[in-house]
Amino acid sequence: MCGIFAYLNYQVPRTRKEIFETLVKGLQRLEYRGYDSAGIAVDGPNKSSSDIYSNSICLIKKMGKVKALDEELYKKDSLDLDEELYTHFGIAHTRWATHGEPSAVNSHPHRSDKENEFVVIHNGIITNYKELKAYLITKGYEFESETDTEVIPKLIKYVYDNRENDNITFSKLVERVIKQLEGAFALVFKSRHFHGEAVATRRGSPLLIGVRSEQELPTEHIPVQYNCGHTHDKVHDKYTRSNSINSVGEGNAVEYYFASDASAIIEHTNKVLYMEDDDIAVVRGGKLSIHRMNRQAGEDPVRAIQTLQMELQQIMKGNFKAFMQKEIFEQPESVVNTMRGRICFDTNTVMLGGLKDHLKEVKRCRRLILIGCGTSFHAAVATRQILEELTELPVMVELASDFLDRNTPVYRDDVCFFISQSGETADTLMALRYCRDRGALTVGITNTVGSSICRETDCGVHINAGPEIGVASTKAYTSQFVALIMFSLMMSEDRLSLQKRRLEIIEGLRVLPEQIKKVLSLDEKIKDIANELYQQRSLLVMGRGFNYATCLEGALKIKEITYMHSEGILAGELKHGPLALVDKDMPVIMIIMKDACHVKCQNALQQITARSGRPIILCCQDDQDVAKNAYQAIELPHTVDCLQGILSVIPLQLLSFHLAVLRGYDVDCPRNLAKSVTVE
Ligand code: F6R
Repeated sequence: MCGIFAYLNYQVPRTRKEIFETLVKGLQRLEYRGYDSAGIAVDGPNKSSSDIYSNSICLIKKMGKVKALDEELYKKDSLDLDEELYTHFGIAHTRWATHGEPSAVNSHPHRSDKENEFVVIHNGIITNYKELKAYLITKGYEFESETDTEVIPKLIKYVYDNRENDNITFSKLVERVIKQLEGAFALVFKSRHFHGEAVATRRGSPLLIGVRSEQELPTEHIPVQYNCGHTHDKVHDKYTRSNSINSVGEGNAVEYYFASDASAIIEHTNKVLYMEDDDIAVVRGGKLSIHRMNRQAGEDPVRAIQTLQMELQQIMKGNFKAFMQKEIFEQPESVVNTMRGRICFDTNTVMLGGLKDHLKEVKRCRRLILIGCGTSFHAAVATRQILEELTELPVMVELASDFLDRNTPVYRDDVCFFISQSGETADTLMALRYCRDRGALTVGITNTVGSSICRETDCGVHINAGPEIGVASTKAYTSQFVALIMFSLMMSEDRLSLQKRRLEIIEGLRVLPEQIKKVLSLDEKIKDIANELYQQRSLLVMGRGFNYATCLEGALKIKEITYMHSEGILAGELKHGPLALVDKDMPVIMIIMKDACHVKCQNALQQITARSGRPIILCCQDDQDVAKNAYQAIELPHTVDCLQGILSVIPLQLLSFHLAVLRGYDVDCPRNLAKSVTVE
């Protein structure tokens, strides 16, 4: 959903070429967030100070992927690539179109005027842009793009042109601008009038800042300045008095990186600061400070500099063709990382540290509500049945957007789970705020430490699957699945009648990584099946019970990266409509595992074969009764029923990957999609 990257070097000599490389690399790391166009803004050629164009800003934008922009950068003869810039601020953006088609003019940075007095990059949506645009047009501003974003640089120029005195600061201008904005945004501003200064802010969209300095960072915390730069020092004064960051960069060489997520920063520094909504971060004279309006009750007046645990190689593709493929093959490890330190296989106990202080409250609740979008919603569907069984509570599963559309009643004694890989999905975040406002206990199940959902929930579980870069979610799904299973095990620890069931599930989790490896070893066979199917237009995926979620998730993977029509069908519904689609030409995948639905699924199989259907069947190893009726059988290791969905989804992940490759599509960047959907 658009990627923002910006780089400021203060008293660190960098050639223009090095600056380009840093900006392009940052965008490449964020490309999964949007890839229909990209652009940068850097300082223009260095002219004499008497020239009105000294401090000029050069904008370079290009439709297509970051690679196209990269090539374009070196075509600008006016920019001396070897020129050394001691202090420089460059901004960059990769776009996922919301308002206005993909094109160079609609891509970011957007500018205030033809002289580029103010330029800005934006992730999010400005919902009141039409009103602002109409107003600015009456004031004589001319718009060149169809985007919502363009009102922002125009508005800051308007505020600047109407300033009451010349001492106004860049951050004050930005503060005035964001007061007028509605919607969601992460913004980074650059201006000809404030050379070498950076201003960044956010509301509802993620933004973090990396800091790299040769000097040891003297502090772990930055005091927030309220109303015109007064440091609030009542709370946490141990940080603000003696350990202020104010000295970082003051006279020292320092570099700052602004990005939508940590993957663009990690190769430069592991010291980062996550911005909060309505923070305005300013770098001036190399010094970083955080400003905001009046302090709200309970608000933390310091921002911590955190150390990222991520490793660079976690976000590199290695020998795989695509991130998605790499992430599918990482699942034997990623599920272990989800369980690590939480399940003790010697004592058969499960403890989720992030939930333990709230366990009593959860056990007393009226019901559990699991909320998410897309794949994360499917993880809720996949685990609902075992949650009902082991918690003996009613469990609702909800698509975040629909949950909000219905104004669903939520009560103080509800416990609401927000499942999100990115932790930034706008619909899920809105649903979280909705439930929080109604007094429910909110629990995050996320993969992104420091994300909005992490920070805004009362408690939660990090699934620890590692960075997921491929737009199609794979390892996050299986880790969400495991995290929710662990929650059900933790809830049932003191139920004597459930011990046998718990023990078989814990044993299933113990051997799960090895079983996943066995499923992955079927890759060649799945590739052969993909070879038979890749020219088809449609693909149905059927199953029921614990494997219904696998059908939904498998069909989603297929449609999003192969652009084939695909539907996940509950086998129990077959005769109520979908059977009409079945004939000898319609490819059907059936999931028939040895669980309580085995016989019912075999009935559905009969109905398919009786209509000349030629089913590809995912079944348990040595289930000859089922395999003999298959046109093709993919035999999977057998595990306990509620975990089988983890094994059965992997062949469908692999199948969608191979289908997309054979159809010639870019697996990691499916058209029209983005990894993190930060708009409603
Ligand atoms: C599909 C996919 C999406 C996401 C959905 C929610 O492969 O990735 O359906 O699952 O956009 O995203 P998160 O989990 O980040 O909230």
